[in-house]
Amino acid sequence: MTLSPDASSPAPLVSHPVGKLGGSARVPGDKSISHRALMLASQALGVTEISGLLEGEDVLATAGALRALGVELRKRRDGVWEVEGRGVGGLHAPASVLDMGNAGTAARLMMGLLAPYPFLSIFTGDASLCARPMGRVMTPLAEFGATFMARDDRFLPLAMQGTDEPLPVTYRLPVASAQVKSAVLLAGLNTPGITTVIEAEPTRDHTERMLAWYGFDITCEQKDGVNHIAVRGQKDVAFAKRLLGVPADPSSAAFPMVAALLLEGSEIVLEQVCINPLRTGLFQTLKEMGASIEYLGEREEAGEPVADIRVRAGHLRGIDVPAERAPSMIDEYPVLAVAAAFAEGNTVMRGLGELRVKESDRLQAIIDGLAACGVNTSVTGDDLTVHGTGGLVEGGGRIEARHDHRIAMSFLVLGMAAQHAVTIDDARAIATSFPGFSGLMNALGGRIEDAPLTSALRLPMRVIAIDGPAASGKGTLAQRLARYFGFHYLDTGSLYRAVGLRLLETGQAAENKNAAISAAKNLRDQDLQDSRLRNEKVGRMASIVSAYPEVRSALLDYQRAFAARPEGAVLDGRDIGTVVCPDAAIKLFLTATLEARAARRHHELQEQGIEVVYDSILRELRERDARDSGRSAAPLVPAPDALLLDTTDMDADTVFHKVVALVGQRIDGQLLVSIGE
Ligand code: DC
Repeated sequence: MTLSPDASSPAPLVSHPVGKLGGSARVPGDKSISHRALMLASQALGVTEISGLLEGEDVLATAGALRALGVELRKRRDGVWEVEGRGVGGLHAPASVLDMGNAGTAARLMMGLLAPYPFLSIFTGDASLCARPMGRVMTPLAEFGATFMARDDRFLPLAMQGTDEPLPVTYRLPVASAQVKSAVLLAGLNTPGITTVIEAEPTRDHTERMLAWYGFDITCEQKDGVNHIAVRGQKDVAFAKRLLGVPADPSSAAFPMVAALLLEGSEIVLEQVCINPLRTGLFQTLKEMGASIEYLGEREEAGEPVADIRVRAGHLRGIDVPAERAPSMIDEYPVLAVAAAFAEGNTVMRGLGELRVKESDRLQAIIDGLAACGVNTSVTGDDLTVHGTGGLVEGGGRIEARHDHRIAMSFLVLGMAAQHAVTIDDARAIATSFPGFSGLMNALGGRIEDAPLTSALRLPMRVIAIDGPAASGKGTLAQRLARYFGFHYLDTGSLYRAVGLRLLETGQAAENKNAAISAAKNLRDQDLQDSRLRNEKVGRMASIVSAYPEVRSALLDYQRAFAARPEGAVLDGRDIGTVVCPDAAIKLFLTATLEARAARRHHELQEQGIEVVYDSILRELRERDARDSGRSAAPLVPAPDALLLDTTDMDADTVFHKVVALVGQRIDGQLLVSIGE
């Protein structure tokens, strides 16, 4: 059985009250800019190297669609994405359906990009994307000459037949929408002549800025207070290698920013944040409330203004936030409401109707969440008033995140500054915009941790067995699972290592079987605490002595006694699921390619300041694998009922959450069984 990638069950988090925050951090790249960086890279001749790309699922959907259109994209080891530009008109007909997942921006912009191509594209997405109307973009794209067949005329799944004789269009936006504007401008790229968008109200201008940055022929003019944006199509930009740094997302920066404002004595710096004025309504609002927010080293990156932002804690006052500001901070009201809860006096946020139709009914989610944390609110029409407490917020609530990343993060921030810890029922949505959120907040001084699913889920399960080759990530996973479930943890490799270390200390060779057996029989608890156990030389000795059946059996009782602890145990090693605990409730077998494991080990050692050549690690691991799998006594093989998990392309967080999801399902199954009995 292999873990299915979409295995999922809730991942609750708890945020504990903490003292001041300090240090600096770079929040993930801006989502809007990340989509555009990839799409436009495909249209520019030459390779674009993109750093700081947001690697959330939405942006990966854009990357996947571009691949299907014949664009070569790869992520380098250093995290930089390389995109081989194909030039304007250079995309190929996709051989299969373009699945845009949950990404509304990607779907709409990609439709624009492909409208002037003479081929058929079929778009689909997840249930929530399929429920979002596409008519707004279909109308102008039809003017270029594209034709559509869509479910109920305007929903995905949708087939678009592009045109080989696109006509340039002048389109006046009927409603303010950066997505519609961008779709039209992108369609203009492969259309002869000049395509113009006229917008009465300014909307996010990331597409215009990025088109100009890549060198496309674009002009933006104000006539009678109205923006006229014109792009000249079918013109390639000069062949060049481009380096594009995606600025950090101001909407993500908002979370550590508000946390630092609320926690007395805090001072943090948020690096390389996009400060495009169409995005910074929250920063302005917080300043009006009395916050200390300073831009340092203002500069331009990828056509966007960016700065490092210094935030210092301070006393906030309630204010009146005008409806006109909503477009530049529509995503930021949840976290503003949290700041307002701690402010002196009332904060009135006007014109929030749009919030009811976001990823969730955000307005209701804010009101309910604040109520659960002891904060009063009132609503009149589309206006929300938060009654500030002047600093003392009770907290202690369990918040329903409603699959809304911003609600989840906002209330985790509230927990940091409240009297009592706040729990979020499910934090999985956070990864769409802010992968690594908890880690980053914790590095600044937060204490956000995995919360146990429910106590009932612990009942029937006692032992988790994790096996796998060296550096497959089993130790990290095992420790985290043990913390999460409140189980004891045993790294069984340390037993074999302790035997190896004893031989080294007494000057005996690993080939001295009798000495190894005697060391195994005489191990003491304190031998397992020796800091030298992690030494590579000791590891090599361990892998040799562990092939002796007598050594293995001398260590068996200890491991089984450990596994029998009433509080539950997680054991990791090579034979836990097969020999030590064949009855374990959960058996996992982690693998990863030799190269991935060597790279991890190399990185780990470098982090500890130890310089080792990558190739020698690779060789060592290869030898170790051969010994562990080739020996006749308890060779490294997955138990028949183990769940196999290939961690090659996963970080530790992803592995952990997948396993927690899976363990949850298993336990559910067992609960049913035990009820039946
Ligand atoms: O996981 P590790 O690198 O600490 O393990 C050191 C050696 O011990 C490994 O090469 C194989 C052996 N070992 C084993 O044979 N059985 C176990 N349950 C754990 C480790």
